[in-house]
Amino acid sequence: MTWALVPAAGSGRRFGGEVPKQYLHAAGKSLIEHALEAVLSHPGIDGVVVALAADDAHWPGLTSLHGKPVLTCIGGGERADSVLAALRGLPAGVADDELLLVHDAARPHLHADDIGRLIEAARDCIDGAILAAPVRDTLKRSDADTRIARTEPRDGLWRALTPQAFHRDLLLRALKAAQADGVVATDEAMAVERLGLHPALVEGREDNLKVTTPADLALAEFLLQGRASR
Ligand code: CTP
Ligand code: MG
Repeated sequence: MTWALVPAAGSGRRFGGEVPKQYLHAAGKSLIEHALEAVLSHPGIDGVVVALAADDAHWPGLTSLHGKPVLTCIGGGERADSVLAALRGLPAGVADDELLLVHDAARPHLHADDIGRLIEAARDCIDGAILAAPVRDTLKRSDADTRIARTEPRDGLWRALTPQAFHRDLLLRALKAAQADGVVATDEAMAVERLGLHPALVEGREDNLKVTTPADLALAEFLLQGRASR
């Protein structure tokens, strides 16, 4: 049994607006519905736990999709707290050594191929695996006056995407350790790296974008419309 955990308890501060970004619509569905659709339509995924904000007024009340269970729990103050809550919300049938995929609710344009390649890589690498894309732009380090201090080499630099796949016991151990040490892990891999482990990088599609700002939503709309019309 391979389950997915979807943190969706954020308020979308950088996006702004009344409605948290995961509930904004693009190509006829909310971003979180696109994300859940992508994850649960994959034959390798058996169910999902979604972490929601305690005061969430927008969750559509889904309990299943593609005949697979959609469970919910209350998330926490940081993304990692929400993922921990989702881990604790897994049903009894999910064993400790089972693979889990963590995927952002705000990442609506995920392809089945990427899920498949990620699962394969995580089965081969005991430390887990994440989707990632090589950095393409030239990187500048700024000084205190926002002038360029220098150019940073981009060789070997990747942007971490989701899903990120780890065995249940490792993910739990890693997130608990980060929390106990007062470290805010911005993705699951970071928590696992802190244990001295080295998750695999799986090159994923660059259009697996996370909606952070209104400009991203326009791009997501464009990508999702394009997919719908194919
Ligand atoms: N998330 C969560 N719990 C939190 C914070 C974030 O479940 N306490 C989720 C978001 O809902 C989102 C994913 O983690 O699906 C990625 O986080 P991000 O893009 O940073 O979303 P927000 O935290 O909502 O946005 P911002 O940082 O701009 O406030
Ligand atoms: Mg955030």
